Amino acid sequence: MARVTHHAVEREPIETASRDELQALQLQRLQWSLRHAYDNVPHYREKFEQAGVHPGDLRTLSDLGKFPFSTKADLRETYPYGLFAVPMRDVVRVHASSGTTGRPTVVGYTRADIAMWGAVMARSMRAAGVTADDIILNSYGYGLFTGGLGAHYGGETLGAAVIPMSGGQTEKQVQLIREFGPTVLMCTPSYSLTIADELARQGVGKSATALRVGIFGAEPWTNEMRREIEDRLGIDAVDVYGLSEVIGPGVACEYVQCKDGPHIWEDHFYPEVIDPDTGAVLPDGADGELVFTSLTKEALPIIRYRTRDLTRLMPGTGGCMRRMVKITGRSDDMLIIRGVNVFPTQIEEVLLKNPNLCAQYQIQVSREDHLDEMDVYVEVKPELSEHTSSRQREAIGREVAHHIKALIGVSTKVHVVETDKIERTLVGKARRVIDRRPK
Ligand code: DLL
Repeated sequence: MARVTHHAVEREPIETASRDELQALQLQRLQWSLRHAYDNVPHYREKFEQAGVHPGDLRTLSDLGKFPFSTKADLRETYPYGLFAVPMRDVVRVHASSGTTGRPTVVGYTRADIAMWGAVMARSMRAAGVTADDIILNSYGYGLFTGGLGAHYGGETLGAAVIPMSGGQTEKQVQLIREFGPTVLMCTPSYSLTIADELARQGVGKSATALRVGIFGAEPWTNEMRREIEDRLGIDAVDVYGLSEVIGPGVACEYVQCKDGPHIWEDHFYPEVIDPDTGAVLPDGADGELVFTSLTKEALPIIRYRTRDLTRLMPGTGGCMRRMVKITGRSDDMLIIRGVNVFPTQIEEVLLKNPNLCAQYQIQVSREDHLDEMDVYVEVKPELSEHTSSRQREAIGREVAHHIKALIGVSTKVHVVETDKIERTLVGKARRVIDRRPK
């Protein structure tokens, strides 16, 4: 069971404004942002002109649909600074995301952008139930990745005490948890389980730490995984979402009392969900690809940026801003196995419904005799590891493979392995899939 947090979540007036008030603000800011991009970024100006639109054409929020999308390709083509809308002397920070192929994506911030980022990240942390009284162990990686510094300045803006640990050195993480008494843990969800393993290895029970909240993001994770993390660490686990191109972490975050998907900070980031094949804007509630337009960013205005993240927009439950349902995956993580579409999170959900298994898993895809083969490796729960024979593990594997076939429609071999057989995430995002099929 998660520890109940009794702090009342403090909210800014805009979080509980009326939808009309919020939309009036969005319209005014959107007009500014389109104009700012058009006037100061030749690449945007050309794209708008090719599409036959002008910032003055935006009279209502739905007029945004007339404007062209942008993608990672726009950032690559203008690498490194070509989408910046301000001179370099006004830029005070640069981050970059490595990506899997080619050049990194470079993003920049003015002093006002950094302040806005700190404010939305502080709001995210407040939504998660964090206050100035908290001590935060920040185990997101520091450096070009936006996770470390994003969480760091958010925590300082809120007035909490931040321990800038960064990722990795898991033994030291546990030492700090024992000796510095952090009440909040911030890292990727997969790394939180690596820390839980190390706590168990050192014999530190969950009631022996002061941790009460974890704010996890940067990679997809299911509600089943949330339950495992909450149970093993004795905390409330809250989902924070973001991407470098939009700002970094703090684009959206769950309210701890709802835990029903991240609420999007719509006063700064305007969301749309589109049909990924046709580009048509879909109504709220429909599944599709999330698209963002920045409303207040100075250095790098981003217009209709296609995130590749798949979700749907729902009415807010913690305030007036809309929320997205927990992300099921990215269109580019989708595996097609003998014609069946499979997301790693679907496999995760089935694995974690089995009470013997834990969230250390990896999917390996290969091709034999022209046929796709999918092998799922998953660890048995650490406390069961010594007590299960290989025969019992095989039986569990067969049962889980049967459920995967029944629920997802794909045939797999499920290999249930002992604790520590699967590579751990130490820094950065978990590698859930190894695809060895020829390209
Ligand atoms: O991952 C920013 C971040 C840092 C978010 C720390 C949360 C916490 P990028 O490296 O640019 O930025 O990767 C962005 O990561 O498009 C999603 O595919 C994925 N992602 C981020 N947060 C979540 C989440 C950071 N809560 C990409 N759930 C995004 C699922 C997420 N996927």
